[in-house]
Amino acid sequence: MSTSRETMLCEFPEDVAAAAAALIHEAQAQAIKARGVFRIALSGGNTPRLLFDRLAREWLDNMKWEKWEVYWTDERSVPSTDEHSNYKLAKDHLLSHVAVKNSFRIPAEANDLHAVVVAYSSTLKKQFASDNPVFDVILLGIGSDGHVASLFPGSPLLESGSLLAVAESDSHAQKRVTFTLRTINKARLILFLVAGERKADAVREVLVNGNYALPAARIDSPYGRVVWIIDKAAASKIT
Ligand code: 6PG
Repeated sequence: MSTSRETMLCEFPEDVAAAAAALIHEAQAQAIKARGVFRIALSGGNTPRLLFDRLAREWLDNMKWEKWEVYWTDERSVPSTDEHSNYKLAKDHLLSHVAVKNSFRIPAEANDLHAVVVAYSSTLKKQFASDNPVFDVILLGIGSDGHVASLFPGSPLLESGSLLAVAESDSHAQKRVTFTLRTINKARLILFLVAGERKADAVREVLVNGNYALPAARIDSPYGRVVWIIDKAAASKIT
């Protein structure tokens, strides 16, 4: 499948955040006009923090926050107060500063993560009124190993037909709950936020070599746009 990816090259990580914020502003306006609601799934890690801070600081009065529904692409099996929690990252840097009324945390601190997968899948089907939820925006990062969300290279989850799954990775301390490619690749707009030299090899492997062994190379929403927003350091091996 030919993947129609768009690439935006930025100077610095702050510029990546600024470009992503502008695309989100445009997407939320279109979604609210068309469907009366804007549904976004947030990823974790460090890069989104710059975006969250910018949205909370500079877009406070430019978004219709009350029309937003916020979800997560993945969550670590830790309490929501834990520093590794993707929810905590978004809450501290965005949600506690803006008037979002509807956020759907993945309660991955539970013992039975398979039950969490079932419950969160039901929530998606109910909120989207469909067995195939189509997000307006899905935010992704890329690990230096090419993972996205909590889909790691070689994982059997890459072939999963479910909406979500339990990710167990020996190289990562915690178990996780993650969207699958089925859910991610349905989105109207997928934004990759990529910054830093340590991502340069993975970026080249995906964008130049099309290395399908990297989960990030399998993000190819045939239903929408895939936009890679990359800073100079992360793009250093493709330019
Ligand atoms: C997670 C994230 C993960 C992240 C990448 C990049 O829960 O760990 O969803 O997929 O996007 O690891 O993380 P950085 O933005 O910190 O480089």
